[in-house]
Amino acid sequence: NFAIIAHVDHGKSTLADRLLELTNTVSKEKMAEQFLDQNPISRRRGITIKLAPVRMTYVLSEMSYTLNLIDTPGHVDFSYEVSRTLAACEGAIILIDATQGIQAQTVSNLYLAMERNLVIIPVVTKIDLPIAAPEKVRQEVSEFLGVDPSEIILSSAKSGIGTPEILKAILSKIPPPKGDKEKPFKALVFDSKYDTYQGVIAYVRVFDGEIKKNDHFTMMATGNTQEALQLCIFNPHPEEVQNLSVGEVGYIAANIKDVSQIKIGDTATLANNPAAEPLEGYREAKPMVFCGLYPIQTKDFAVLKEALGKLRLNDSSFTYETETSASLGYGFRCGFLGLLHMEIAKERLEREFGLELIITAPNVVYRVTDTKGKVQELENPSEMPPVQNIEKIEEPYILANLMIPVANLGPMMQLCQERRGIYKSTEYLDAKRAILIYEMPFGEIVMDFYDKIKSMTSGYGSLNYDFIGFQEADVVKLDILINNEPVDALSGIVFREKAHHRGKNMAEKLKEVIPRQLFEVVIQAAIGSKIVARETVSAMRKNVLEKCYGGDISRKRKLLEKQKEGKKRMKKIGHIDLPQEAFIAVLRVDE
Ligand code: GTP
Repeated sequence: NFAIIAHVDHGKSTLADRLLELTNTVSKEKMAEQFLDQNPISRRRGITIKLAPVRMTYVLSEMSYTLNLIDTPGHVDFSYEVSRTLAACEGAIILIDATQGIQAQTVSNLYLAMERNLVIIPVVTKIDLPIAAPEKVRQEVSEFLGVDPSEIILSSAKSGIGTPEILKAILSKIPPPKGDKEKPFKALVFDSKYDTYQGVIAYVRVFDGEIKKNDHFTMMATGNTQEALQLCIFNPHPEEVQNLSVGEVGYIAANIKDVSQIKIGDTATLANNPAAEPLEGYREAKPMVFCGLYPIQTKDFAVLKEALGKLRLNDSSFTYETETSASLGYGFRCGFLGLLHMEIAKERLEREFGLELIITAPNVVYRVTDTKGKVQELENPSEMPPVQNIEKIEEPYILANLMIPVANLGPMMQLCQERRGIYKSTEYLDAKRAILIYEMPFGEIVMDFYDKIKSMTSGYGSLNYDFIGFQEADVVKLDILINNEPVDALSGIVFREKAHHRGKNMAEKLKEVIPRQLFEVVIQAAIGSKIVARETVSAMRKNVLEKCYGGDISRKRKLLEKQKEGKKRMKKIGHIDLPQEAFIAVLRVDE
């Protein structure tokens, strides 16, 4: 059982395709490119969202081997899922693009694999590209891993160079799964999927014992017991089997309707002969970033609700609940693992369900302890209790792993400092690149940190992170008022020292994007009852039809149509039209 670890776009799916071909699992003709990575959005954006395992059989020297390749998602937001996939494996191929070298994602996932003592097979790929520097990258990988360069396979997943060597290395280096068939059944859930007919399907790797069709199994974390109605292996399409035994990878379908009953990382065991202990490493994949989602057209509320329900069917780490905003009307408060997770969801809603949405500035979860000692996890800034009732506020921290060109180290460290980062260490990969390790408040990266890294390093920098817990924070609620009315969707929780400056910037930014009205518009930023900034949008004097007095009616209609179109993406706040840009502008405010 093995996985392929790679940075986004380093060619994981392409290599998987070649392995499927070489083992005759999928014939060349049938090979829709990137068999494993079939979600249209993940394809378009070049990121894998869901894991799709596949079984391959290969005969070498008259010995038949069964290989399970478990695909891993390739982005920071899904590092918990990656860690569970790796827990289901004995080995991992570390795939590195010969044009880009080692990246932050590769490093952190590699560490995850090493922690689990997986056998690592390093591969440098895309050597066919003219700009590739295979030997240089091979040297870099060899130094980083402390292995001989000759152990690093050079390949081109596109043309198939090196694939036989990779397969050989898998067979000779990765050990077969251990485990005891006589012990009680114990399997790790490393993924789940919703199927219209079968309900929630649990993807499992069996560690001990065996499960047979119609056995009752229990999920050890949730305590939920169900009958295994169908057991399948991935061959590569689901193929029904009568049992799943020690070492095998497959799925269990039990007509479960609610995704939250099957949690990634949970241990499945038999109801009448349970394992004594669950497998290690289970953690609730909890949403850490929240934002409001509102339909632009009020009539779309029901469609949005249904769409969110459908999204949730397949994704238990995504949450939503109805919310009413004084400024935006009826909508939903949604929770995501991270920013990318959020963007993907928004894009799916817009593309697959044809919805037009307003998305409010994302915020992280805050843990608020009130003066009576009650602890509350705050998902929405507007729920913040009055200051006098708060004992302390804590915010989530991450351990950030930044891969940065040495030339950009100075400015990057300065940026981390500005974002309240606590410096931990620097590791040099080679003369040109280093890894910076910082502890940082997660709230400081949800806005524009990625963009900053990318622009600062001309696209060469990358970031990976892991949550490390909550720490006390000196934060305040910053409100935005328009003509004296607070706009709840624009309020946020900010670090006290930065609140003043941010309020000022936001007011300025809003002034730029709020269209002029027939009356004066006053924009204010306030901390508690104290106004920290004020801007005014002066009244509009022009009327769009002014210039075409006496003109042709069709021309007038055209102008009015144009004006109407412009108003479509606006939401009425009291009697002011706020364009979507106003909500986006908040994200782009420079500290
Ligand atoms: P994610 O799953 O989204 O992280 O991407 P991935 O790692 O699966 O990458 P994918 O296989 O989708 O490849 C990314 C791009 O690189 C595609 O355009 C591939 O065609 C291309 N590519 C992959 N391997 C090679 C290779 O060996 N040579 C060349 N020239 N291109 C390659």
